[in-house]
Amino acid sequence: MTILVTGGCGFIGSNFVQHMLDRHPGETVINLDKLTYAGNPENLSGIENHPNYHFVKGDICDRNVVESIFKQNKVDAVINFAAESHVDRSIVGSAIFIETNVAGTNVLLDVAREHSVGRYIQISTDEVYGSLGTEGKFTEGSRMHPNSPYAASKAAADLLALAYHHTHGLPVIITRCSNNYGPFQFPEKLIPLMIARALDDKPLPVYGDGLNVRDWLHVKDHCSAIDLILRGGKPGEVYNIGGTNEWKNIDIVRLVLKKLGKPDSLISFVKDRPGHDRRYAIDAAKVNRDLGWRPRISFEKGLDETVEWYQKHESWWRRIVSGEYQQYYRKMYEEK
Ligand code: NAD
Ligand code: TYD
Repeated sequence: MTILVTGGCGFIGSNFVQHMLDRHPGETVINLDKLTYAGNPENLSGIENHPNYHFVKGDICDRNVVESIFKQNKVDAVINFAAESHVDRSIVGSAIFIETNVAGTNVLLDVAREHSVGRYIQISTDEVYGSLGTEGKFTEGSRMHPNSPYAASKAAADLLALAYHHTHGLPVIITRCSNNYGPFQFPEKLIPLMIARALDDKPLPVYGDGLNVRDWLHVKDHCSAIDLILRGGKPGEVYNIGGTNEWKNIDIVRLVLKKLGKPDSLISFVKDRPGHDRRYAIDAAKVNRDLGWRPRISFEKGLDETVEWYQKHESWWRRIVSGEYQQYYRKMYEEK
């Protein structure tokens, strides 16, 4: 099987590419990534020369690039991770979110349809459902009520993908996952940001009262769910993926500080994010019932390992924070 992964140099995509090459040595992965600020080819430096891995630097919005990949390869499946993924950036400016997340998805769907691809997996998010009160969980049947420009762009892409299934019979599957954590996460997201800042004894900015709740899942558990869904999921279906692991932001921040032996006095409550969703929680019963998936990595162990990973890979995140990694990819991919 040849799989076109988009956004494979980002956090989840790079963990997924590694997962595929480890678990399915006979399969080929083509990684199409534009290398935005969030895409770092260093994440995959260990497999750069793997015979079953091919990197293409390009934009999913660029139809010519996507078509040429399909013309040069027999692509059996597309897994679309490529996206602008940070809520705060979508508040500052939403245009690029519509461009990549909606128009880019449209290009992929269209070319996949032309080439009668066997599977198209759209990697989506629980944020399309909006915000919960203190009770209940999102199921696949929950209504979509996206609140941030990021969530709205992801919801638009989901609807477009499902319309391609309904109208054209494209074998589309949507996955909606809760907040991921683990190695290679860009240090603008809560957990790596707090680890990196605490290591430097800088104030940790907690939005609002810090009581917003997220459901955390280790990225490796997310990858194993996508792999199962790729092979056994039903076209036209949506699958929720979650950790059944709800935490208030402030408790996560305190836990990170404790693990690093840093004082709570580093916590700094700052102005809330506009439109900040209060609580997310995923009901992942369907993927458990239909495909036997459940998370394997406990939060206790997963967070310990993640904190250690950022301690050990200080040069990785320091280069990102300083922007030096951008020079790395220019050197690697543009001077060739
Ligand atoms: P990320 O921001 O770390 O990585 C995104 C990747 O996409 C980068 O490598 C970037 O270079 C690439 N990219 C961006 N625009 C592109 C374009 N136009 N063409 C080609 N490549 C492009 O994101 P992530 O956290 O790994 O998220 C991956 C996917 O999972 C996204 O679709 C996101 O919406 C979804 N998701 C993320 C989470 C989470 O907690 N991180 C949770 C649920 C769903
Ligand atoms: P984030 O990692 O941006 O993921 P999302 O907004 O997609 O869930 O944020 C997770 C939670 O942490 C969210 O409730 C916002 C909060 N947060 C802070 O309190 N401070 C920060 O600096 C960041 C980045 C997030």
